[in-house]
Amino acid sequence: MSNGFDLRGKRALVTGASAGIGREIARVLAAHGAHLILTARRRDRLEELADTLGRSHGAEVDVMESDLADPGGAQALIEAVESRHPIVDVLVNNAGSGIHGHGLDHEWEAEARMLQLNVVSLAQLTKHFARAMVRRGSGRILQVASTAAFQPCPSYAAYGASKAFVLHQSEALAEELRDSDVKITVLCPGSTNTEFFEVSGNERNQMQVSTSLDPDVVARQGVAAMLTGKRVIVTGLSNKITSTGVRLLPRRLQAILARKVLE
Ligand SMILES: NC(=O)c1ccc[n+]([C@@H]2O[C@H](COP(=O)([O-])OP(=O)(O)OC[C@H]3O[C@@H](n4cnc5c(N)ncnc54)[C@H](OP(=O)(O)O)[C@@H]3O)[C@@H](O)[C@H]2O)c1
Repeated sequence: MSNGFDLRGKRALVTGASAGIGREIARVLAAHGAHLILTARRRDRLEELADTLGRSHGAEVDVMESDLADPGGAQALIEAVESRHPIVDVLVNNAGSGIHGHGLDHEWEAEARMLQLNVVSLAQLTKHFARAMVRRGSGRILQVASTAAFQPCPSYAAYGASKAFVLHQSEALAEELRDSDVKITVLCPGSTNTEFFEVSGNERNQMQVSTSLDPDVVARQGVAAMLTGKRVIVTGLSNKITSTGVRLLPRRLQAILARKVLE
């Protein structure tokens, strides 16, 4: 079941584990024999999941509440994790949110919190835990980006750009680490059936609904790619085709097409 990197007895930190893709990733990691540190803001949900995974897989599961949209959130989480767990073998940077609508209409405060969550906290956690993995000579990092990372995204302007940051920075770091046993994988889901759209203030259109995958499918594909050290995984055949094809178009046309899909 290890498929490249053996998760048995390893400890994985999963951000955004209270819902959606993160919750399913936690389930898949536990099924592979990993112990878990689960974090998000909704402690009750994390505790419920910890209880389930402890009973069903015998996983040791620690729960840590954190708000990664706060400027000090990632540092506080790092300190909380290190006070209890000297070694983190796997980092899953999944916590994230979007804001839908015209970019100039959003309150700056909300956008700044989203960027802190999607970009700054993710980058800080990555740097911190990747450095420790490099010192130990082993580790795996799974970054949850999006198919939004592949082109400009009118209606999700800052969100799409935040995911482009995740994709580009992670691929660059993965190349820097090519000779080590620390591997970084970027999971790029397309539309997935989670609370994401409700939180973003976006009612999905028919096309988004019809191509949506369930989060357990996305989680399984992401973890499988991480275990084999694959750099980028796009979930779903139609997403694979569009995310590849869009790169051949002029960028202005990419933006026009994305606007038609996302508005
Ligand atoms: N659903 C999609 O269509 C889709 C497509 C592509 C990429 N993604 C990406 O997939 C990742 C997971 O999203 P999802 O679809 O599973 O959405 P979701 O169901 O809304 O889950 C988001 C998770 O992030 C956590 N989170 C949100 N704000 C947070 C904060 N300030 N501090 C700490 N944790 C926070 C949430 O927990 P709390 O609310 O309890 O804090 C929750 O566990 C995100 O990075 C998202 O951008 C989603």
